[in-house]
Amino acid sequence: MRLLVNSNVTTIKNIITLEEHMSQITDPLDKLPPILKKNLDKNLCTCNEVLKIDIINAILDGATTVGEIKKQTYATTGSGCCTQQVERLIECLCSPEKEK
Ligand code: FES
Repeated sequence: MRLLVNSNVTTIKNIITLEEHMSQITDPLDKLPPILKKNLDKNLCTCNEVLKIDIINAILDGATTVGEIKKQTYATTGSGCCTQQVERLIECLCSPEKEK
């Protein structure tokens, strides 16, 4: 019976630790200004029909430069007219976490 009590205490401590951990996890999209959170399912790169969410996912998977985005998604390889938007996404999503 005592073991059960200790086990329950350990379980409760683990639950509390998990809740603390989960509260520290933030949505990566929280780093984007509201205007950049719009139209995630629309083409950001219209020349090559690359969705904004695909570019965001490439950044979240580790791409930190326009060149890396270009290799992974083909965005910016048309006329280059979306390059500034891609740079802005990189800038926002790769910025360090703000202290809470
Ligand atoms: S819109 Fe992306 S290269 Fe033109």
